[in-house]
Amino acid sequence: MLEFLKRKKIKIEKEKMPQHIAIIMDGNGRWAKKRGLPRSAGHRFGAQKLKEIVLFADEIGLKYLTVYAFSTENWKRPKDEVENLMNLLREFFDTEIENLIKKTQIRIKVIGDISKLDKDIQERIISAEGRTKDKRGLCVVIALNYGGRQEIINAVKNLALDIKNGKIDIEDVDEELFKKYLYTYDIPDPDLLIRPSGEMRVSNFLLWQISYTEFWFSNVLWPDFKKEHLLKAIEDYQKRDRRFGGVK
Ligand code: FPP
Repeated sequence: MLEFLKRKKIKIEKEKMPQHIAIIMDGNGRWAKKRGLPRSAGHRFGAQKLKEIVLFADEIGLKYLTVYAFSTENWKRPKDEVENLMNLLREFFDTEIENLIKKTQIRIKVIGDISKLDKDIQERIISAEGRTKDKRGLCVVIALNYGGRQEIINAVKNLALDIKNGKIDIEDVDEELFKKYLYTYDIPDPDLLIRPSGEMRVSNFLLWQISYTEFWFSNVLWPDFKKEHLLKAIEDYQKRDRRFGGVK
């Protein structure tokens, strides 16, 4: 690893490691088009890339990695592409996640409204979460049928119910309490958000959680994303001056 960093001229300080990185895995479609392949091939390579980056993130001691796999808006894609992504997801759980469960200390958590996914996919998710809940390695958070606005609305509804039922006093509602109603109630906010593929937008990802997250963009398409891109993003992150609205 040290040799790798030296070769790539990347300097990383152990004490300044981000604990949580979020990634918008974008550019699968364009990657496939460039090669005259169907979009489904791009997603397939994207899924392989995800496996590679998950293993590497665990190896370098990252605590949380959140990835955007399917958004609440992705249902608008052609039916066959949605179906293809769902099948890829089934396969990913049956092979890659199964392997991770057997061979690593990685914990799996899914965020999003999974009730809209097919029952068999929900079962795969619940099983992977249950079997890894006590593991202490990297926590891989997979956003599935996830939308930041949808997450906030969901939280507001549940909070309103608790207020109505007298469980919560409206005067006690603050940021800390509100967080308990989000899918990410048990996860720290991301330190770093990576978006490859040249797009510079947030696309409804982790809207509440990214208030003070550092952004890192790159033109590389997700299937071409390499370990060194992750390390470069971390190196750049370590040079940022995070003030959280204060002064130093
Ligand atoms: C964006 O690329 C990618 C997605 C909408 C899906 C992300 C999914 C994967 C990386 C693989 C599947 C994941 C799992 C967990 C099995 P795009 O299709 O929008 O690319 P484009 O902008 O170039 O068209």
